[in-house]
Amino acid sequence: MSRIPARLLLCIVAAAIGCKSKEQGSGMVGANAQGAIVVGEVGSMTGTEATFGTSSDRGIQLAVSEVNGAGGIKNRQVTVIALDDEGKPEEAATAATRLIASEHVTALLGEVASTRSLFMAPKAQAAKVPMVSPSSTNEKVTQVGDYIFRACFIDPFQGYVMAKFGRENLKVARAAILKDVRNDYSVGLAKVFSENFRKMGGQIVDEESYSSGDVDFKAQLTNIKNATPDALYVPGYYTDVGLIARQTREVGMTIPLMGGDGWDSERLYEIGGAALEGSYFSNHYSVDDPSPRIQEFVAKFKKAYGGQLPDSLAAQAYDAAGMLFDAMKRAKDLSGPAIRDALAETKSYKGVTGDISMDQNRNPVKPAVVLKIAKGGKYDFAGRVQPEGIAETSPSEGPKGAPVAPGGNQGPKKTEGNTAPNAVPGRLATPTPAPEVGSTSSAQAAATTGQPQGVPAGEHPKK
Ligand code: PHE
Repeated sequence: MSRIPARLLLCIVAAAIGCKSKEQGSGMVGANAQGAIVVGEVGSMTGTEATFGTSSDRGIQLAVSEVNGAGGIKNRQVTVIALDDEGKPEEAATAATRLIASEHVTALLGEVASTRSLFMAPKAQAAKVPMVSPSSTNEKVTQVGDYIFRACFIDPFQGYVMAKFGRENLKVARAAILKDVRNDYSVGLAKVFSENFRKMGGQIVDEESYSSGDVDFKAQLTNIKNATPDALYVPGYYTDVGLIARQTREVGMTIPLMGGDGWDSERLYEIGGAALEGSYFSNHYSVDDPSPRIQEFVAKFKKAYGGQLPDSLAAQAYDAAGMLFDAMKRAKDLSGPAIRDALAETKSYKGVTGDISMDQNRNPVKPAVVLKIAKGGKYDFAGRVQPEGIAETSPSEGPKGAPVAPGGNQGPKKTEGNTAPNAVPGRLATPTPAPEVGSTSSAQAAATTGQPQGVPAGEHPKK
């Protein structure tokens, strides 16, 4: 996106706020009675997390074409103005301000990365423009204020899921952590993982740090190696994680890596290569889930985008947009406060990634999946974890009853490829073969064979 000089920006903001407060009384903020309803989108369309933005954009575009095809909202079509923040927090804030002040958007979709959502959210909150983050999982995001919502689970759950999977399925007793200190998501997830892992009787033998964009992780990895962990938790984003995986093998460690949703990108394996095989990460959904809701979405997405499979970003963004449109339909008018109220009342919205009901903190309570990276970068479904107190019905209307523990017993399920495409050409590391994963610990054995040990195996939801 183009930069707007700060001084000029201030004037624009002031003018817009002045004009908004007048409009609010008439309930016409961001939508004139005749024209299209304008929604703003902020994402990293370029930069080291480009697939986050481009995948999300595809999910949003699909949702928009569907809502418009079905007659729009309150008899108006929906238009989305998407701005690229290049993966930079300050740019995300600038983009949000610009969409609010100059484009008078009705609502905002974005960001994916928690840090960037945290930069956007105060702008949305101050202007009373509802913001829905598709996939920012850090707890603080929605705490910014009552206009900030999300369509995904939060990291206290995601961190718990991987700690449990590591302890119970991979039999990890000693874990190490390598976190990105410039990333709120990474810092938060490292903390939750560590707390849960210890509570479950495990030991954190080393915790090391890096800063996003670093390319040499050997010093930290050597320290980690010396602490002799059974597994390494790396709650980072895919570009860094790919490099870390390769260097983990280069310093001679063969232990499995574990991570979170930030791994999800077709680029991950292109960068990390075979070094990632046998590693696990938590995510929002699995394209292999036979639930009709998921398979219908996968089919529609593939048809719209030349056979590409939707990654979790695409699915989450599709759900975030769908949830916003649903609220706009129910809202008494299209003012910020009316849409906010309708969003807060969201109940059992049937998302691809699960049923979405807002809790009082504007966070949905949803299941998570664990995926294993298999040969060639395929994601194998390894388990599904249902949050406590939520019936095992979403998103698949699958087997009812007890929550499903991770540990799929149906053998690996192959996917055709991981994710939605990255439209932006970028640098690519050439994958090189990594040393074979050894089998000197039960964690490694589990990683190698894919056989969860000693835990009631979870069923992949059936049709
Ligand atoms: N959950 C990550 C964050 O909050 C973003 C993310 C979501 C990345 C889903 C990839 C897939 O920063």
